[in-house]
This record gives sequence, C-alpha cells and structure tokens, in this order.
Amino acid sequence: MTAPTWERWVVAIDGPGGVGKSTVARGVAQALGYESLDSGAFYRAATLLIKLHRIDPEDEAAVMVTLAGADLAYRDGTIFLEGVDVGRAIRTVAITTATSPLAALPGVRLLVVKRLRRWVAEREGRVVVEGRDMGTVVFPASELKIYLDADPEIRAARRAGETRATVREVAARLKNRDRQDSTRTLSPLAAADDAHRIDTTTLNADQVIARVLSFRAG
Ligand code: DC
Repeated sequence: MTAPTWERWVVAIDGPGGVGKSTVARGVAQALGYESLDSGAFYRAATLLIKLHRIDPEDEAAVMVTLAGADLAYRDGTIFLEGVDVGRAIRTVAITTATSPLAALPGVRLLVVKRLRRWVAEREGRVVVEGRDMGTVVFPASELKIYLDADPEIRAARRAGETRATVREVAARLKNRDRQDSTRTLSPLAAADDAHRIDTTTLNADQVIARVLSFRAG
C-alpha cells in the first residue's frame, strides 16, 4: 500500500524512556509551526481506563470492548478521557508500570495506531510525533526520523528529577520497561534504518532540538 502524501511531512522521534522525547518534540514542533503528539499518552490513557473499569489486563477481549468505545482525545498537548484531562493521572508509577504490558497487546496497538494516524492525517502531517515505533511502523514514509538515546544512568537521573523517587529506583524501573518495550514481538522499540541517531547524554534540550532541525534543513 502506498503511503498518503502527508505522511512524508511527519517528523518521527523515537527512543527509550527518560531520553527527552517530549521536550524535544515540543521544541521542534514550535520551531516548525507544527503540533506535537505524544503517542505514549494514548497507551497510558488506555491503561488508566482499563484500571478504572477494573478490567483484567490479561483478558484481551474485555480490554478491547472497553477501549473500542472509549472517548480519547488529544489536544493542547494533553490527553482527555471522557472529556476529562488525565495528563497528570497517567504519569503515576502504577500506570507507567502497567502500560508497557498493555501496549504489547496486538489489539491495543491496532486501535491506538488508527487513532494516531487519524489525528496526524487531520493535520496533513504537520506534526512531530514521538514514541517507540513512529519511524518504524506508524509513519514509515516520514522523511525525517530521529532516534534519541542516552546513557541509562543519565536517563534515570533526568526522570528522578521529575519525581520524588531515588535515581536507583527509577533506574531499575526504566531498565525493566526498556526490556519489555524492546523485546516485545509487535512494534518493539527500535531505530528505523533511515533514522538519524542522536546521543543526548551530554546535550541539553536546546542542543538536541537544534540538531534535529539541522537534519531537516540539510
Ligand atoms: O513514552 P512513554 O513513557 O509515555 O510511554 C509509555 C509506554 O507506552 C511505554 O512503556 C511503551 C508504550 N508505548 C508504545 O508501546 N509505543 C509508543 N509509540 C509509545 C509508547
């Protein structure tokens, strides 16, 4: 199947947790006059919904019935569930931990990917999307793909700075999540062959944003 024309305009940013994808996506979007889309927020909100309905996440049929009718909307950089801004509620440790296995379910991925593609199509591809499989699976025809990485200790330190947990606790959780996200069968965390790789270990957000923009100009 040929990709729609708009797909080439999409800027796709992938990478593991704590690497700075959201900050970079927002900065690049602002510079380009684009909107940014945090695909992880959809998987997190789906997980929150399943928890609120007390559905067993192993019961894929029940999960799918609940998600199929879900009112999930992304606007102004946050996600709404049944009209309520759940941008903060999806960032708890419990939701973060539960999201990775739920996002491995084929039905869940299919449903979320459909919604992501519709959102981006409505904006004719003028979107910076970030996640784990944006360049590899969801927007493979994007002409600018970025894969961000950084030393695990640095990623843990950045994340710990955003929470009250210690660096050690965060490092252990990140390691576990990286393993789950990169070893799952469907759409694992991976760099596309044609992605530009940026190691953000010693770079600040502005430097990473500038580097992404330089690839676009070049
Ligand atoms: O980027 P994040 O930490 O908000 O992502 C939360 C989880 O969602 C992550 O552990 C894996 C999953 N995810 C995914 O499977 N595919 C994406 N494109 C984005 C996130």
